[in-house]
Amino acid sequence: MIQFLLNNEMIQLTKFVPNMSILDWLRTNMGKVGSKEGCATGDCGACTVVIGDLINGQWHYKSINGCLMLLGNLHGKHLLTVEALTTKPNPSLEQLHPVQRAMVECHGSQCGFCTPGFIMSLFALYMSHKSYPGREAVIQALGGNLCRCTGYEPILKAAEKCFS
Ligand code: FES
Ligand code: FES
Repeated sequence: MIQFLLNNEMIQLTKFVPNMSILDWLRTNMGKVGSKEGCATGDCGACTVVIGDLINGQWHYKSINGCLMLLGNLHGKHLLTVEALTTKPNPSLEQLHPVQRAMVECHGSQCGFCTPGFIMSLFALYMSHKSYPGREAVIQALGGNLCRCTGYEPILKAAEKCFS
């Protein structure tokens, strides 16, 4: 049996395929289709989710590729998907998470396929820094995310804006 948090829900799985990817499990078993499959080989970042590890009683969050991490590795962790950031069905700009709002305001999304992945990488950065950590740190944090549309500059601007 494995037990972990998915967003704000405790999940216990007794029967599962341990080598199923988190991405496949989210999309196929849980109907959480915000995370996308681009390459399925860890190269594009469309599948990015955030994983929390409990260390000395405190959660530490980082972004990972959902297509690479296996379901069996989730035991004891906190899995956060893009669905956790806004729970309202048709949120206003003000109801979006600051990362999402900044992406909208800076035009950081065009076709949108890469956007949930960028949002989750930025969300991990946002969770682990109290203030804007600088352009180099943002570039590092987004190093695993590819976008074919925006040219990246609007996304980098959004990364700065979400901390303001
Ligand atoms: Fe491309 Fe996971 S789908 S990195
Ligand atoms: Fe189209 Fe990024 S907005 S791939």
